[in-house]
Amino acid sequence: MCKTLVIVIGCLIAFTWTIYSAQARPGKRFDAKTQTCRMIADGQLDWESDHWGTGAQKFKQVCKSCHTRDNDKGAPFLYMESYGSKGWNRVFAERRIPCKQDGSWDVLSAEELLLVNDYLYRNANDTYDPNDADSCG
Ligand code: HEC
Repeated sequence: MCKTLVIVIGCLIAFTWTIYSAQARPGKRFDAKTQTCRMIADGQLDWESDHWGTGAQKFKQVCKSCHTRDNDKGAPFLYMESYGSKGWNRVFAERRIPCKQDGSWDVLSAEELLLVNDYLYRNANDTYDPNDADSCG
């Protein structure tokens, strides 16, 4: 009887923690290029910026065509946790990056690049920090 209670309480704590961590993911992203606040935890963008959305797909199809582990293109290995949320925003909005400048990103439309940025921002290496990473609003 007592054991069961302990197990039930344990499960409740684990469950609450799961929900809590999921919510610690950032829900908004300020995009410097378009000067807009993107609500990435709502509606269509919620879907698109998660692991099954367009952002993740395009990252795999395009960026990961070079940035795999041990590739022969001279590209450093990259995955969603290579940078924090702000770091990814800088990659897309500010930094001069050779592959961006030589046209390797041009197969993606401006809209698709926003979705890739949303996906990486939302799943970056600091997104489980309880002080969530929302950058606007
Ligand atoms: C055609 C191959 C190719 C594609 C496609 C490509 N990259 Fe790159 N990327 C490279 C190479 C090669 C470098 C290293 C260039 C150098 O340091 O001279 C690089 C460098 C980078 C860097 C800098 C890494 C560092 O440590 O400074 C980032 C960030 C980056 N790429 C992000 C991306 C993203 C995001 C995409 C998809 C939108 C992408 N790349 C698509 C080849 C590619």
